Amino acid sequence: MPDASASLLRAPLLRALSGDRPETAPIWFMRQAGRSLPEYRELRVGTRMLDACLTPDLAAEITLQPVRRHGVDAGIFFSDIVVPLRLAGIEVEIEPGRGPVFASPVRTAEDVARITAIDPAEVAAAAEPVREAVRLTVAELSGAGTPLIGFAGAPFTLAAYLVEGGPSKEHLRARAMMQADPESWHRLAGWLSGVSRAFLQAQIDAGASAVQLFDSWAGSLAPDVFRSFVAPHSLAAVRDLPVPVIHFGVGTGAFLEDMRLGGTAAAVGVDWRLPLDEAAAIVGADTTLQGNIDPALLGAPWEVLEAHVRDVVARGRAARAHIVNLGHGVPPDTDPTVLTRVVELVHSL
Ligand code: CP3
Repeated sequence: MPDASASLLRAPLLRALSGDRPETAPIWFMRQAGRSLPEYRELRVGTRMLDACLTPDLAAEITLQPVRRHGVDAGIFFSDIVVPLRLAGIEVEIEPGRGPVFASPVRTAEDVARITAIDPAEVAAAAEPVREAVRLTVAELSGAGTPLIGFAGAPFTLAAYLVEGGPSKEHLRARAMMQADPESWHRLAGWLSGVSRAFLQAQIDAGASAVQLFDSWAGSLAPDVFRSFVAPHSLAAVRDLPVPVIHFGVGTGAFLEDMRLGGTAAAVGVDWRLPLDEAAAIVGADTTLQGNIDPALLGAPWEVLEAHVRDVVARGRAARAHIVNLGHGVPPDTDPTVLTRVVELVHSL
């Protein structure tokens, strides 16, 4: 479909990722699909989260809901960072209100040996429902020239769940494994990078135009630890992919330059703590910035939120190019009409 691909090339999101500055900054929201939308809550009744992710027509419809409603400049594929682990045959569920929980945590050298014996090629083989969901979504989006962003979890953020066995505040067990048993750590993180890469590749093969690597919990790491134990594995997950890469983490201001992964990331995501003009000075002229509306202000009076959004867009002009987003995901209790209003505001600036 040459027409669809030509209009996709002009899509503001893809232009911003290539360093171009479209007339208005593109905008999408992390977690734009999900509980803030009544139409999502209705569709999800009676279906567990990971089963919904692996039901192609459901995953495609949930991905499209926020694009239709808000007029954002991209879809983000409805799935989860633990989906490739489920595809690899690992027992995992997402507990509502809590997050991913594993039947058997991966804590010892024996646990690591057991899990890394699974060939990441198994993920690619089992990923047909993912490819089908992406194909269905892209077929709907590309007519309107709207790109689909695929994603995966970065090795550290996945390990933060897998080693603990579930959600944790400080990810102590994963951080301890790095330095107490570096051999097991590197084996596990290297394997996770292969699994995430296979998941990204499946989405790209089926038509995703860009991908985001979520290292949501990387901010719990000291900069030198991120550099030595984490960044090489994240880079292996995304190096030489045929589409642009966005690399996101919360609280990564202390090592934002390293989040560029040596230039492999076309864009770096910034949370609400670091003003974008300061972030631009750190990442330099070769990297697009994404962010960084404070999700807390989505619940503030409109005047307060509007002033904040204008400030974010103004500071974003210091970057090579800017993709407007939140500093982290949409809180589940957000009034969705506020998100639509933010999109309209950004498109008017
Ligand atoms: O709209 C989108 O952003 C696309 C879909 C998406 C989901 N998870 C859907 C989801 C994406 C990109 C993710 C990534 C993800 N999953 C991350 C990285 C992004 C981030 O927020 O930092 C992480 C850490 C996870 C792990 C995870 N999955 C958590 C912490 C939770 C929340 C648990 C809860 O109920 O509060 C999930 C579940 C999840 N993933 C939901 C959605 C829409 C909620 C499940 C539901 O609706 O019942």
